[in-house]
Amino acid sequence: MPTEQMPTEQMPKEQIPNQRHYRIVALPGEGIGPEVVEATATILRALADQAGFTLTIDYALIGMPAQQAFGTSLPSETLQICEGSDGILFGAVTQGGLLELRKHFDLFTNLRPVRPSPSLLSASPIKADRLNHVDLLFVRELVSGIYFGEAGRERQQQNAYGFHTMRYADEEIRRIARVALQQAQTRRQHLTVAHKENALPHLPWSRLVASEAEAFPAVTVEPMLVDNLAMQLVSRPGDFDVVLAGNLFGDILSDLGGAIAGSIGLLGSASLNADGFGMYEAVHGTAPDIAGKGIANPLGTLAGATLMLKQWGEKQTAETLITIRENMLAQGYRTHDLRPAADTTASAGQPLKIVTTSEVVDFFITQIQARSQPCKGQE
Ligand code: IPM
Ligand code: MN
Repeated sequence: MPTEQMPTEQMPKEQIPNQRHYRIVALPGEGIGPEVVEATATILRALADQAGFTLTIDYALIGMPAQQAFGTSLPSETLQICEGSDGILFGAVTQGGLLELRKHFDLFTNLRPVRPSPSLLSASPIKADRLNHVDLLFVRELVSGIYFGEAGRERQQQNAYGFHTMRYADEEIRRIARVALQQAQTRRQHLTVAHKENALPHLPWSRLVASEAEAFPAVTVEPMLVDNLAMQLVSRPGDFDVVLAGNLFGDILSDLGGAIAGSIGLLGSASLNADGFGMYEAVHGTAPDIAGKGIANPLGTLAGATLMLKQWGEKQTAETLITIRENMLAQGYRTHDLRPAADTTASAGQPLKIVTTSEVVDFFITQIQARSQPCKGQE
């Protein structure tokens, strides 16, 4: 039967006009990874129904579980499943498999946005009046630098030594600079460049970024020594817009975002290649101390999934997730990582309710379903 004559219900989903379909691959990994990925997957499935797209979620192994099943942290089976998908939803691993995965798909752009929630200003160790207008984007180079340079352990006479090399091709710096400049152009047109040229003069980030910036006249570029930048980010986080850094400096600086936002458990990240294919994850790690207890904060992985929706062009659906998250926090719901040290009462007098991972999921599902129901009075 020719496709045009087939009733919509019988047509394969890919052929329905205007029907968006996405296939993602969940890589739960280790520690709290499986819990936060499952929570996010459940919310995404509910969201798909409401937003009018279909979603397939395939699962594959990475890290310790892959090591046990295949004898390697990143099996070729996992890479094959990821191939041709619309994105990878990543949980957490202690180390094994992650760097290889980033390298395999050339995910050189790591975007780590930090925007403190108005309901969580008191959760940050930084004074609330310095957090009001914070809207930061860390752009971290992810597939080169000291993580991937020549490395080893050797022995000279009796002395053992180890080395890792911070090596960057000029073009690797230029390509991440272009991404950061593009991002800055669509935001507040300010780009801070982390460098350490007083000690590492052969890595001229300032000069290379300045040269790329000629094509972005609207963007002001401010190179800063990375040590000074760390201090400035804590003292006046609201003055920064986009912060560009190499792999190691970006790793370290972006954890400051956790302190600014109130918990590292809140932050998400997107790692993209030149084709826009990406992996989405929380900024936090495996948190072995709370793994298996059902109390992990899924909001970081969900923030990663929100970046995935934006990357797909599903902007409104991404906004829905952000709105529900803000509602949840404004209503006083807090996961354990956000439990105040002294008492459970917020300064505004709003009583806080400490919730488990599944209670967070329930909150989102209820709010998503409420949105799909026609409003009373309009029926
Ligand atoms: C991160 C992590 C990783 C990194 C570790 C797990 C190798 O800290 O994604 O920030 O350093 O890139
Ligand atoms: Mn890190």
